[in-house]
This record gives sequence, structure tokens and C-alpha cells, in this order.
Amino acid sequence: MLLLLLLLFEGVLCPGESTADPQAPGPPHPAGEEPLNFRVIQIFSFANHSWAHTQGSGWLGELQTHGWDSVLGTIRFLWPWSQGNFSKEELKNLQALFQLYFHGFTREVQAFAGQFQFEYPFELQISAGCRIRAGEASESFFKGAYQGTDFLSLQGNSWQPSPGAGSRAQNVCRVLNRYRDIKEIVQGLLSNTCPRFLAGLLEAGKAELERQVKPEAWVSKGTTPSPGHLLLVCHISGFHPKPVWVMWMRGEQEQPGTRQGDVLPNADGTWYLRVTLDVATGETTGLYCRVKHSSLGGHDIIIHWDGYSILLILICLTVTVTLIMLIVLEFWFKKQSSSCYILFRLVPDLAMGADTQDPRGSAHQLCSAQESWAKNRYLKKWKTSLSQL
Ligand SMILES: *[C@@H]1O[C@H](CO)[C@@H](O)[C@H](O)[C@H]1NC(C)=O
Ligand SMILES: *[C@@H]1O[C@H](CO)[C@@H](O)[C@H](O)[C@H]1NC(C)=O
Repeated sequence: MLLLLLLLFEGVLCPGESTADPQAPGPPHPAGEEPLNFRVIQIFSFANHSWAHTQGSGWLGELQTHGWDSVLGTIRFLWPWSQGNFSKEELKNLQALFQLYFHGFTREVQAFAGQFQFEYPFELQISAGCRIRAGEASESFFKGAYQGTDFLSLQGNSWQPSPGAGSRAQNVCRVLNRYRDIKEIVQGLLSNTCPRFLAGLLEAGKAELERQVKPEAWVSKGTTPSPGHLLLVCHISGFHPKPVWVMWMRGEQEQPGTRQGDVLPNADGTWYLRVTLDVATGETTGLYCRVKHSSLGGHDIIIHWDGYSILLILICLTVTVTLIMLIVLEFWFKKQSSSCYILFRLVPDLAMGADTQDPRGSAHQLCSAQESWAKNRYLKKWKTSLSQL
């Protein structure tokens, strides 16, 4: 059966682990200890019996290395080193295999949708790949999901329904397991092609993978969780590699209420993380956010919450003082201009010195010029400092 064959091919290309474990707070691992995996992710969206959309991508750990152009049927190499150490010939063969696979898989699923009780519209996701750890045999993975929920996986020598996937998955696996050849092809791709490709990729992409970028960190106040409480937020951004350790602390005490969000990707390939702490308003004294990351060489980043409140107070003070000064200046200018007129009125000779018929007029001009010059000069200065805040 073509479906099975295709499934096998897909497996061959390297079944992989689907999602990374949520990162529990813990000391960062040196990058080298992480087993790295390569996986191919395929997403098939079936709108009805005649319309389907496919997407494919290749991932080295958290880093996307390959795309799939579903119109041209070609592999897109996203990095100069994305070809690993495979020859052009070998890559062309893989590409041809994927073309056949994407096309055939879609057709077969549509043909068997009724028998497998797939209900339109539905989505199938497949993650297949392998991982290697220095000095150990490689492991491979092949997982399938239906409508976003785990559906089946390849376990050793057989297709197994995922726990809770029900009779539909059992039925599909029963059919798939009859096709021993397909299973063997998949296993071959997973346990031979994939680790070879991964090893070459790791070598070629070493510089990118080992790139160390220091995080920036800052704190802010989050949405107040409840009256009388504050949500302290520690932001960490722009770091690479992904493992990072962040904790709200007081003295040497880790605050157990620390909550860590997901580590999210920035557009430039670095990472972002938000770590919060819910505290009673009066209990923020001495709290600080501590960040450990491999790029920091043991010099943890420490940001004090008090520093943030002091900064806030400083900003408020500066703004207030600035406003007061502006008001005072405004007054001063008004006074200044009236005394200017008084001066000219009292000492008409001074104004008469200028060759003009209208001493009042010239005095007025002189005063306005002086006034606007001073006003501009000071107001501009204050406005600039205000806007810089
Ligand atoms: C199938 O779905 C596509 C995309 O939603 C739609 O354009 C098309 O008209 C549908 N065809 C049938 C036969 O329902
Ligand atoms: C690529 O590199 C890996 C590991 O260094 C090696 O096993 C493999 O033979 C190399 N060449 C090819 C074409 O796979």
C-alpha cells in the first residue's frame, strides 16, 4: 500500500521528538551535554476530499534549518551549512523522495479517510527524526498527531496508538503494522540516514550552534494580580543558546512563588523569557532577579526590584521638578516681559535711541524678541530632557 510505503519513507528521513520539555528552572547545562536532535516536521491540512495543504520543515534542535517549498517541491536550505556533509546527489535523492512522499501521502490519506474515520476538515502532524549524544548510539522517533493530539508512534518494531487516542488510532496502527517492508524502510531512514545527516550538520553548523550571546535583563511591574499585591516581572532577552536559569530571590533564598513562562524565540534566533513573582505590596524589600547563562561566564546578572522602584521614584521626581520649573519659568518670562515694557516706559530715551517713530512699537519688538529667544532656549531644553525620560 502506497500509504504505508510513504509512511515508511517519512520515517526513514528521521523521526524526531516533537516538542522540547518545558524548561524547569535549574542550573544551565553546558551546551555540549544536550543531546541534539534533527527532526522533520510535516503538517497536512485536509479541508475536504479534494483539497489539502502541506507544510514541511527541518529542525536541528530548536533551530530551523530547512523549509519545504510545496509549490516547487524543493527543499529550502536556510543556512549555508544546511546541507551538512551530504553530496548534491544524495540531497537530490532525498528531495525526490519527499516530493513523492508529500504527494502520495496526501492522496492516500484522502483515499483512506473514510475507512480510518478521519472527519473533514482535519489536520495531521508528523514529527520524525533522530538524536545523538557523544559516544552513544543514536535514537530515533516517529510520532503522528491527528487534530493536534498524539495519535500514534513507531515503537521499536511496531506502530502503536498513543494513550487515549482511541479505537481510530488502534485501527490505523493495525493496518499499518501489516506492512513490514514499509516499517523496515522507515527504520532504515531513521537509524541510518538521519544520524549520518545529523552528524554532518552538527559539524557544519558548529559555529552557529555554539554562538554565545549575552542576555539583557530588566524588571517591570505586571498587571496587579489582586488588591494589595504586586506582580514583579523579570524580562530576559536576546540570549543564545536557549538554556537559561532565572529566579526571583531575596538574599540567598530562592522565592518558591517564581513562575517561569515559555522561552520564546526572537526573530534574530535568540531567546526571550519572562519570569514573574506575585508578592504582597509591602514585601518587595530585598527582592532581586538573578540570571545565569552560559554566555555570562559565571557573572550572573542581578537586578534589584528596589532599584526599579528607586528608578521609578527618580523618574517621578524628575518629571515633577521639571513641571515645577516650567511653571516657574513661564511666570518668570511673563514678569520679565512686563518689566521690559516698564523699563522702556520709564526710560523712553533708551528706546528713542533707535531711529524709529514709534518707541513703544520698537520696545515691544525688542521685548518679544528677547522673550521668545529665552523661551525657546529654555523650553526646548526642558522639553528635550522631558522627552528623553
Ligand atoms: C474544498 O476546500 C477548499 C478550501 O477550503 C475550497 O476552496 C473548495 O471549494 C472545497 N471543495 C469542495 C468540493 O468542497
Ligand atoms: C558525514 O559525516 C558523518 C559524521 O562525521 C559521517 O558518518 C558520514 O559518513 C559523512 N558523510 C556522509 C556522506 O554521510
